Amino acid sequence: MTDNGDKDTDQQGNLPPKRSGVPLVGSAVSFARDPYAFYEDLATYGDIVRFSMGSTDMAAVLHPRNIKEVLVEAFDKYRKPADAGGVDILSEGLLLSDGEQWQQQRKRLQPLFYQDRIETYAETMGTYAAASAEEWAASDGPVDLTEVTSTYTLRVLGKTLFGIEAEKHRQAIRAGAEAIRERSSESPVSVDIPEWLPTPRNRRYKQGIAELETVIDELLSDQPDGAGGEDLLSLLVAAMDSDDEGPTEREIRSQLVTFLFAGHETSATALTWALYELGRKPEVAGRLRNEVDDVVDGSHAEVLDLPALEYTEQVIQETLRRYPPAAAIFRETDTDVLLGDYQLPADTYLVLPQFYVHTDDRWWDDPLVFDPSRWDDISEPPGDRPEYAYFPFGGGPRHCIGMRFAQMELKLALATIVRHCHIDHEYETVDIDIGSTVSPPRRLRYGSNGESHP
Ligand code: HEM
Repeated sequence: MTDNGDKDTDQQGNLPPKRSGVPLVGSAVSFARDPYAFYEDLATYGDIVRFSMGSTDMAAVLHPRNIKEVLVEAFDKYRKPADAGGVDILSEGLLLSDGEQWQQQRKRLQPLFYQDRIETYAETMGTYAAASAEEWAASDGPVDLTEVTSTYTLRVLGKTLFGIEAEKHRQAIRAGAEAIRERSSESPVSVDIPEWLPTPRNRRYKQGIAELETVIDELLSDQPDGAGGEDLLSLLVAAMDSDDEGPTEREIRSQLVTFLFAGHETSATALTWALYELGRKPEVAGRLRNEVDDVVDGSHAEVLDLPALEYTEQVIQETLRRYPPAAAIFRETDTDVLLGDYQLPADTYLVLPQFYVHTDDRWWDDPLVFDPSRWDDISEPPGDRPEYAYFPFGGGPRHCIGMRFAQMELKLALATIVRHCHIDHEYETVDIDIGSTVSPPRRLRYGSNGESHP
């Protein structure tokens, strides 16, 4: 039997249509072979389509109208999946917690992300961007772009939210982040493999998490009693000490891992893709450089420069469209629900795939082309394009808490880096690796003068 996507004619009640796959494996093979082609095939069945991945029955939600329903309008009918994407250590952090625990956490942490608070982080962001660009420009040999971008976002995160120099923990945090990325990118088929089996992947995962745990131990033991700082760490520890309702140590650990992971990996991936596209598109890089030269005075961009950096913002918006760092959003139905015209039974596992919806040609002209000028007239409503044809940061009450933080961090970094480095390379196209993030599949290496080293 092949994974040929035969239409399942046995539609019960008003269930969405189902794409059938190979018994036991479901559609996992097709997805692994070519995620875009797989979703294009799903879309031929309709806007809400059932399929299975290993032993998990899923439904893809492909129309922005229904995506908005899940994330915003009927938000309380859907919960975060109970399996924590196979990464238990994240299960009590803001990304995966649910119900009252989530509400309490979000309320406690929200002040760290108010606009006026974020603006106080701008100087750190700009200074670190200049430092990263200068280190790159001064390097002897080819530099790995992923290292440049993740070092930058990690330094920013460490300083602004943890009040630490993250440099000394970099290796351990990167190892942990890579372990989480790899584990959460696995299809449910491989997650079915028991964790105790000493497979190379399981060993890598355990090793990465163990390294990350040592960082958390150190952060917690270095935290002075009653320090009263205003960063994330101080806030959590103070809440634990002062409040019966406050977080447990287990929850704090989960929260710290959540922010160390979600707070740097996604932004680093976006910055990598933006720099990669600048190298391939001299006309985009030229327009960006002209804007930056007009607006930015010193060695790095500053908060007051932000409103005038309009094209810089378009480059970022387009990067997040074409290469959305969070590839998809997952939910489970709490009870039987009506979504669009269909009935979904309780416990249905939903996937809302940004990477597909952002390139659906019903909403986007030449969707695979990276073209920041498509955002030239941002005051104009985008014709008949529905709002949720673009949702890189999710939507509704659970939209990304770090959205404005990331947007500012990326804008300041991009404007600063183009002031220091000229990126020029021969990477025509690279494959896009769709896992839990949308990443370049292999290291992109550049020399100090910006030329590529494929
Ligand atoms: C370009 C960068 C980023 C992208 C594309 C991104 C994307 C997302 C998306 C799509 C969600 C929603 C997930 C869902 O609904 O299931 C989310 C949630 C979240 N993000 Fe981000 N993120 C980025 C940067 C950041 C940063 C910088 C931080 C922290 C400093 C952060 C922390 C979080 C947290 C804690 C949540 C969970 C929020 C909640 O459920 O209340 N993210 N992010």
